[in-house]
Amino acid sequence: MPANKPPDEFYELVFRTMPIALFRIDTESSADIRSELMALPAELREDFLLARPELLADMARRATIAEANDRAAVLLRAPTAKSLIGTSLTHYWSRRMDSYRRSVTARSSGQYLEEETQVVALDGTIIDVIFAMAPVSHAGRPMTLVGMVDISDRRRAETELAKVQADFAHAARIASLGELTASLAHEVSQPLAAIRLSQEAALRWLEKPATGLEQVRLHVNRIGGHATRAANVIDRVRQMTFASGAARQCCALGSILEDALALVGPQARAAYTNIVVAAHSVRSLILADRIEVEQVIVNLIINALDALKSTEPKSREITVALTESDGVVICTFCDNGPGLTGTAEHRLFDRFFTTKPEGMGLGLAICRTIMEAHNGSITATNRSDGSGTRITLRFPALHTRDALCHAPMGSGEG
Ligand SMILES: Nc1ncnc2c1ncn2[C@@H]1O[C@H](COP(=O)(O)OP(=O)(O)OP(=O)(O)O)[C@@H](O)[C@H]1O
Ligand SMILES: [Mg+2]
Repeated sequence: MPANKPPDEFYELVFRTMPIALFRIDTESSADIRSELMALPAELREDFLLARPELLADMARRATIAEANDRAAVLLRAPTAKSLIGTSLTHYWSRRMDSYRRSVTARSSGQYLEEETQVVALDGTIIDVIFAMAPVSHAGRPMTLVGMVDISDRRRAETELAKVQADFAHAARIASLGELTASLAHEVSQPLAAIRLSQEAALRWLEKPATGLEQVRLHVNRIGGHATRAANVIDRVRQMTFASGAARQCCALGSILEDALALVGPQARAAYTNIVVAAHSVRSLILADRIEVEQVIVNLIINALDALKSTEPKSREITVALTESDGVVICTFCDNGPGLTGTAEHRLFDRFFTTKPEGMGLGLAICRTIMEAHNGSITATNRSDGSGTRITLRFPALHTRDALCHAPMGSGEG
């Protein structure tokens, strides 16, 4: 404070020019209630006021604004600062008596108070404020100084932001539902196609009742198996989307491969495609969710069958090889289709990337998600001789010791 300015004048200056609403409150007329309050231990005072709301209301009514600056007039929607003088606090605190109660309690112990609250302006507008109260004394007279900063705009922005965030979260939930739906549609389409093939075969055999009943039974059983598989797939896709509660067990990739190839066998035959298992020399087991790994293999075979549609039926072939190297179990799928062309080579694992009119572009994205969940990988290249596509799956091999601990859960080596 400059030495040539007397304190009162300086106080005046601060009061007038500070860009926040400032008030001096006169509480003289409620001195009796204050003394009653101060007779109590400090920690009981707020409870006392809580239990006696009429006393608090009386204090608010008797307390008046003794001084206010222009900012205070703006905040409380008063025509002038002067017009606020002498008005009681009742109206301003009418929405948040709890804040007034804390202010009175703090004041009674000579403490400061700062909190976010709301005051009611003269035109009834509710204004969000940062409220600060300081009990001071000047020339032996106790005074209450109050400062308020209007934070309504900030509050509005926060509310808007919260709404946008809520909308966003909702949109994200809808989007993940959309993804779930798309994944489900994709993954159940294979078992459904297989059911249709088995049904057609069963109907054909029914026309030859003398010889065909055993075949009918076989196909009807297959239909049951495919239906169970569709249900299992739905379960897995749901788990993949909402949680990672996958059921891993120690198993031989060869046996999963066998099961998966049996599933797509009818579709391959219908597409005049020969599936050859070329090499099969793996002893290590892997930790895998059988249904999920089957899904990967089925998706790869279906893709290869699609790719082979553009080639001569008599030469269509998919070669599967199972090998092991440096603790990695490797399974490759080679087809003699057109290979990866254009952007496909770089984008084929992107969700919704497809070059097929009816494709969803989800098969390989699902494969990659599953492989990553198995700490494995999936890669795709053109075959070195330029005659088709090679897809490679890699799984970490389990150490023999791990394998032994889990051995009873898996199937034997294939
Ligand atoms: N064996 C393959 N040979 C040639 N291109 C392939 C092969 N496998 C995949 N692709 C290419 O990768 C794209 C993406 O495959 P992905 O399985 O993700 O989707 P899709 O087969 O097109 O549709 P869907 O979601 O129905 O499976 C295919 O559209 C195709 O262009
Ligand atoms: Mg596909």
